[in-house]
Amino acid sequence: MRDGVLFEITKDELETGLRGFPVGYCVTSFVDPIKGLTYVGRPIAEIAYLDPLAAIYLLYYGEVGSKEQIAKFSEELAKRASCQPETLRHIEGLPHGGHPMDVFAAALLVVGMYEGTGDYREDALQAMAKLPQIAATVINSHAGWGPTPPSKPELGYIENFVHMLKFPGERKSELTQVMRMFNVLHLDHCGGNLSTFVGKAIASGLEHLWGSLAGAMTALAGPRHGRANQDCLEFVQEVLDQVGEHASPSAVEQLIRDRLKSNQLVFGFGHAVLRVEDPRATVFYQYAQKHFPTHPLIKIALHLRTEGTKVLKENPKISDPYPNVDAITGSILTAAGFPYPEYFTILFGLARCVGIAIQIVYERAEARGGKGTPIVRPLYLYKSR
Ligand code: MLT
Repeated sequence: MRDGVLFEITKDELETGLRGFPVGYCVTSFVDPIKGLTYVGRPIAEIAYLDPLAAIYLLYYGEVGSKEQIAKFSEELAKRASCQPETLRHIEGLPHGGHPMDVFAAALLVVGMYEGTGDYREDALQAMAKLPQIAATVINSHAGWGPTPPSKPELGYIENFVHMLKFPGERKSELTQVMRMFNVLHLDHCGGNLSTFVGKAIASGLEHLWGSLAGAMTALAGPRHGRANQDCLEFVQEVLDQVGEHASPSAVEQLIRDRLKSNQLVFGFGHAVLRVEDPRATVFYQYAQKHFPTHPLIKIALHLRTEGTKVLKENPKISDPYPNVDAITGSILTAAGFPYPEYFTILFGLARCVGIAIQIVYERAEARGGKGTPIVRPLYLYKSR
């Protein structure tokens, strides 16, 4: 490496999605290809069972909060936890056609129009505080589950979200725990995942926080990014329908081979950065094995974990033959009593907006000695077609 030169770009590396090219610093988290995700230097497996507010505190302040500090932070968020009635009415009035992520992105713009302050730090706090109510209102009204009950932040960050969700049917006792873990494990994934990168790029033009988050959520909505959790559950369900819940691992292996032979996709494997099983997936697999070992979707997801890796490893062109986080999250949410795949990406967005907001605050108000990073403007070379 030459002095100060991190990477040299060859022509072959153009049009490859900026994979691996450093563009800045991330003060909240990092993804190592082998060790996986860390929040402020701490492996995600150690963080997974933290209270969501403790994990958010860690990302926001860059240090582990004491009990008193987290309680004070929680009070700050509680003060900001409820949107104005007019804001909520407009969110409920949004069209219900299209994917719920469209409604979620539009809802963030609506909140910005009514309640945005134009100050990145204050709006980041407002967003962290209001996200459970915004997400619950979008889901309830999109699903036609009726009016959203008033926000009760004193219940706890995710407990309040689950309280506001009005889905019909049984409320299993494990659901809140699974939703808490889901939230903590999806809060942040370094600076270069598509939605975070897009959100920060939008904010680099000095667009306000709500507009930047809305843009980030449209990026998250793509099936190659956040919506993969919905597609993966649909895939696990399809495999279950084909092989049955008592299928042996070799039956699942055969199904994977048949799909690959007929150029059909096998969902839930591979990651742009990771070269091991996603440690977030490992946490969920362990939880699923312990709490839902007999659930049909979990049984199939566990067979896919081993058999998929075995088959994909045979192809030397596949750089990451291991499960990613989406391989298991839909199955575990369903087993825990939230069988609504259309809304899984909103759960992802509820968490990820937090990491994006904190990273935007860093880039706008702290980076480069407080000057902030300049407007994103990469170089494209001209080429005739
Ligand atoms: C994420 O959590 O954002 C996904 O794993 C995608 C990524 O990191 O690129």
